Amino acid sequence: MTGYIVGALVPIVFTLLLRSSKKVKKRGVPVDVGGEPGYTIRNSRFPSPVETSWEGISTLAELFEQACKQHADKPLLGTRKMILREVEVTEDGRSFEKVHLGDYEWLTYGKTFETVCDFASGLVQLGHKREERVAIFADTREEWFIALQSCFRLNVTVVTIYASLGEEALCHSLNETEVTTVICGNKELKKLVNISGQLDTVTRVICMDDEFASSATSRWTISSFADVKSVGRASPLDADLPLSADVAVIMYTSGSTGLPKGVMMTHGNVLATVSAVMTIVPGLGSKDVYLAYLPLAHILELAAENLIPAVGGIIGYGTPLTLTDTSNKIKRGTKGDATVLSPTVMAAVPAILDRVRDGVRKKVDAKGGLAKKLFDLAYSRRLSAINGSWFGAWGLEKFLWDFLVFKKVRAVLGGRIRFLLSGGAPLSADTQRFINICLGLVCLLQFELIII
Ligand SMILES: *[C@@H]1O[C@H](CO)[C@@H](O)[C@H](O)[C@H]1NC(C)=O
Ligand SMILES: *[C@@H]1O[C@H](CO)[C@@H](O)[C@H](O)[C@H]1NC(C)=O
Ligand SMILES: *[C@@H]1O[C@H](CO)[C@@H](O)[C@H](O)[C@H]1NC(C)=O
Ligand SMILES: *[C@@H]1O[C@H](CO)[C@@H](O)[C@H](O)[C@H]1NC(C)=O
Repeated sequence: MTGYIVGALVPIVFTLLLRSSKKVKKRGVPVDVGGEPGYTIRNSRFPSPVETSWEGISTLAELFEQACKQHADKPLLGTRKMILREVEVTEDGRSFEKVHLGDYEWLTYGKTFETVCDFASGLVQLGHKREERVAIFADTREEWFIALQSCFRLNVTVVTIYASLGEEALCHSLNETEVTTVICGNKELKKLVNISGQLDTVTRVICMDDEFASSATSRWTISSFADVKSVGRASPLDADLPLSADVAVIMYTSGSTGLPKGVMMTHGNVLATVSAVMTIVPGLGSKDVYLAYLPLAHILELAAENLIPAVGGIIGYGTPLTLTDTSNKIKRGTKGDATVLSPTVMAAVPAILDRVRDGVRKKVDAKGGLAKKLFDLAYSRRLSAINGSWFGAWGLEKFLWDFLVFKKVRAVLGGRIRFLLSGGAPLSADTQRFINICLGLVCLLQFELIII
């Protein structure tokens, strides 16, 4: 250990010597965005707002189709295999569901496109009319993405509803948009059945899980996702592609302040958001692997999952409760989503990043002794380095601290993260610094600033 510290001193001395000659580089201009003072890069690089980053593409449906044709044999969507599901009961009688999940199983771009076309045809065969709206009411998963793309190809507007929404809010959203078809998981289906008496417009429900509670209700027909696909496969129909000004999604808010409000977004609106993110994430390309676990009912996740295919990347699905090896729902001794997938890009909300920060701090404190001293030294060195010195930021010293200290922190998220997108709420400056330093990120961006 002492050898390490002596080794660390050499680059520190180097940095100190160089410090006197360095020029402080100021980026951006100060802006008042409320809360912590921040810097932003004004859009001098972009003389007018970006509408699309892809020539000749004006809708999300076109963007997806082009991607599928370009990368047909590459994997696109991955979902982990369920090996074991069990309920653990603690001593005080509380029970927790624990899962043991296996490797990712992949769908190629080509196969995904085929499935999307099948599902779209099946939806129409089932009786859904193109001017009627579909609601997707489920947690983020592969079927959510497929259902979304299917609707886009039919010029059917999708109403997105948080899986956590309560009965009253759910009723309000479905009624206000006169939804006729609801696509949901088994868990959400139970909620729907409970309020079936108040849903005047819903006539069919498609359940993403193969096994579902087919509770008798004469008000609607319930089909499985797989059935809709096979019906469509048997009698394919042509697509009915939307225009840029057609409404792609009506996104309902999470309802934390009263009844949720629906936000209408056209294909052009969402495409511009996707293009803006594309412009800002450095070097996004076909080597990138994205861990998808945030709610697709939120624009941050929806934009990200429409962007990744467009650059030829890979989307692996996870959940907030199975993200890391120590997540609540992961059976002890088995692996979390990030460890198995090793993503390069992730989106997060501040609450999750705060939890990562507190988790790392707690672990370091618990270790104590030399390990804690080394961590604190590394942290303060990196902190002063990113506060001006580019030598310290990119040089030998960074390499050393990464190797000695931060590599272990990085391993929590699979060890390959190079870019994090944060959104949904303001991120504290402390957490942003901590994550930037520990994960050695090129960048961590606040999403709201991008869509302004
Ligand atoms: C898409 O659907 C909307 C609403 O039903 C309709 O107004 C619009 O004309 C459709 N677009 C095309 C290109 O058919
Ligand atoms: C559903 O919407 C209609 C108007 O579109 C309204 O008259 C009715 O009260 C609403 N029902 C519920 C349960 O919100
Ligand atoms: C259905 O409604 C009953 C009574 O209102 C409630 O106790 C139950 O939790 C509800 N079930 C679900 C799945 O929401
Ligand atoms: C960064 O440097 C400035 C002055 O150059 C100093 O006021 C500030 O406290 C430093 N911040 C940190 C976190 O070290």
